[in-house]
Amino acid sequence: MCGIVGYLGYKAIAPLLVESLRTLEYRGYDSSGIAVYNNGTQNINIYKATGKLQNLVEVLPADLLMEPPIKNLQVGIGHIRWATHGAPTVENAHPHHGHHGEVVLVHNGIIENFAELKQVLQGKGYVFNSQTDTETVAHLLEDILKSHQHDFLPAVAELRRQLHGAYALTMMHKQAPGKLYVARQQAPLVIGVGNQGEYWVASDVVALVSYTNQIIYLEDGQYAELSEEGGVKLFGPDNTPVEVKIHTIQTGPLTIDKKGYKHFMLKEIYEQPDVVRNALLERITSDTSPVFIANDTPVSEKESVSIASLSQDVDRVIIIGCGTSYNAGMVAKYLIEELVRIPVEVEAAGEYRYRNPVLNDRCLVIAISQSGETADTLEALRLAIRSGAKTIALTNRPDSTMAREVGGVINVRAGVEVSVCATKSFVAQIVALYLLGIMMCEHRGVAEKLAELPELKKALLTLPVLMEAMLSNVDPLQKLARKYGHYTSMLFIARGVCFPAALEGALKLKEISYIHAEGYSGAELKHGPIALLDESMPVVSLLSDGAVFDKMLSNCQEAKARSAQMISVTNKAIPHGYENTFDDIISYPACHEWVAPLLGSIPLQLLSYYTAEFLGKDVDQPRNLAKSVTVE
Ligand code: AGP
Ligand code: GLU
Repeated sequence: MCGIVGYLGYKAIAPLLVESLRTLEYRGYDSSGIAVYNNGTQNINIYKATGKLQNLVEVLPADLLMEPPIKNLQVGIGHIRWATHGAPTVENAHPHHGHHGEVVLVHNGIIENFAELKQVLQGKGYVFNSQTDTETVAHLLEDILKSHQHDFLPAVAELRRQLHGAYALTMMHKQAPGKLYVARQQAPLVIGVGNQGEYWVASDVVALVSYTNQIIYLEDGQYAELSEEGGVKLFGPDNTPVEVKIHTIQTGPLTIDKKGYKHFMLKEIYEQPDVVRNALLERITSDTSPVFIANDTPVSEKESVSIASLSQDVDRVIIIGCGTSYNAGMVAKYLIEELVRIPVEVEAAGEYRYRNPVLNDRCLVIAISQSGETADTLEALRLAIRSGAKTIALTNRPDSTMAREVGGVINVRAGVEVSVCATKSFVAQIVALYLLGIMMCEHRGVAEKLAELPELKKALLTLPVLMEAMLSNVDPLQKLARKYGHYTSMLFIARGVCFPAALEGALKLKEISYIHAEGYSGAELKHGPIALLDESMPVVSLLSDGAVFDKMLSNCQEAKARSAQMISVTNKAIPHGYENTFDDIISYPACHEWVAPLLGSIPLQLLSYYTAEFLGKDVDQPRNLAKSVTVE
C-alpha cells in the first residue's frame, strides 16, 4: 500500500508528480503529499492534503503547476498514503521531514521497531509531529547523518542496519539538492531511466510507462543514489556496489479510462467476456485440441522452465492467496482434485507463512495474486521457494515481484484492473487455473477423466457468449439492490464448486457497500449460522444445476422456515413444490457444472455494485481498502 513517486530532471515537477501519483491511487487514498526542492530558497517545500489526490492539487501554489521559467534541475518526491500508523490526517500524511529539515522522505511499509527508536530519539530531544512510524525514519536519518559528516550513502547503510520491518523509501537531502536516494526492503520500488540523467522513482512501473520504458527493478536490501552527473549508484545489502541492470519493458503508456461507464468496477464487470476470450487465446483452440500454457516469466530475468514440467512430477498442489485470489484458488481446488486426482490445499497466505508447512520438491505451490505484490502471498511464496517446492505465480502482472522471483509465471491476462474491488481478475484467475488443471490432466493421462475434457473445454469456449447474454439484462439486479440495499446483514450460500463463489459474493458486498455479509456452504448453515436467521437477514443462494442442487434446495428450505428473505441465483428452473421458498429469483443460463461459479459470480458482482451505488458509496475506492496490500 502507499504509492511512492520521485523525479529528477528538467520537466515541470509538480504536475508530473501528481500525474504519477494518480496512476498509483489504487494503492491508497487516505492522503497525499509532495516535496519539491526550491532552487530559489534552497529549501525543500512540502505540500499535503487528506483525502483524494484532487485535494492536494487544490493546495499547490499555482506557479508550481506551471512550466518553470528557468530550466533548473527539478527534484521532488510524492506519496499517496494507506495509513498503517496514525489516522489519515495532514500531520500524518507524507512526505515527512527530520527535526532540522535536513531530510525529507516518503515511505511505504511498516517500521516494526519504530516505538523503541522513537523513544531513544525523543530522549535526544527530537520532536515528533505525527503518529506515523515513518517520521521516526526521518529523525533517525538526520541523527545518523550528524555522525557521518552528512555523507548520505554511509548514513543509509547505518539506517538500514537499525530499521526492522518493511520499507520502500525515497529520500531527499537538503545538502545534496541534485540527488534522490532510494532504499528497498520488502516493499516494491522501481527506477525509471530517461535521457541524459533524468530519473523517475515509483512503487509500480504503471506510474512510469508514460515517460520511459527503461526500468531498474530494485531488489530487497538494495539502495541507490540518483543524480544527473553520477547516474545510478546502486548498492547491495552488504553495502558493496552492484551492477545496474536496465530492463526495456514492452508496456506502452496505459489508458486508464472508464470508457463511458459510471465506475471502473462496472466497466471491469462488462469486460469479462473479452477477458475470458483473452485468457483462452492460444492456450486452447478447440474442444478436442490439447491445452498449452506457456511460461510467461520475463525470459531475460532467468532461465524459463516450462509450466508443464513444473506441474509434472508432483504429489500435491498447494494454492496460496488472499481475499479474492484465495477464493479463486478454492474454486480451482474442486476442479484440479477431480481431474488430476492429487490433493490440493488452499491456504490463506498470511497464515501459511507463519506455519511450519510440510513442503518438498514433490509439491507444486501456486501463488495467486492479481497484483503480484501482496506481502502475505509474496512471503508465503518465498517460504515455498526456500523449501524446495516447485512454484508458479498466477498473476495479472507478469512484471511483478512475485513473477520475477518464481519458477513459472501464468499471466491471467485480465488487463489493468483499477477498481479496488476485484471482479474480472477473479474470473481470469479461475479460467487460467482451470486450463492448468486440464493441462495437468492431459499430461498425467488420468485415463478416466480424459473423456470428460472435450465437454469442459467446450464449456470454457462458450463462456464469453453466455456472459454477454447475462450482461445484456441487468434490470432485475438493479431492482434487487433497491429492495435489499437497506438490510444490514446478508448471508451467501452455495455448495460444491459454487461454494467459493458464495464466499466471493459476500466479500464483494461487504467491501463496497459496507453491509455485513458472510459466505457459507449451504451444508454449514445448520451448524451455527442458522441461529442468525429471521426476517431481517436475507439469504442469497447460488443454486446451480448439478450434484448438489437438491441438497441446496433443502438448505434453502431450512432457511425459509426461519423466515429469512430468500434470493436465488440459479441456472435451473425451481422445481414444483418450492415455489414459496424464494422471494426473488435471478436466472442465469444453463451451463456445464464446472463453469457455474464463473457465470454465477456475475449476478453477485452486479448485486454488490448496484447496492453500493444505490447507497451512494465510493464504489471504486471503498473506505479503508487499497488494491495492492504490500504491508503485512
Ligand atoms: C478483492 O476485491 C480485494 N480487494 C482483496 O481481497 C484482494 O483480492 C487481495 O488483497 C489480494 O490481492 P492480490 O490478488 O493482488 O494478491
Ligand atoms: N507506515 C506508513 C504510514 O502509516 C506507511 C504505510 C504504508 O505503506 O502502507 O504512514
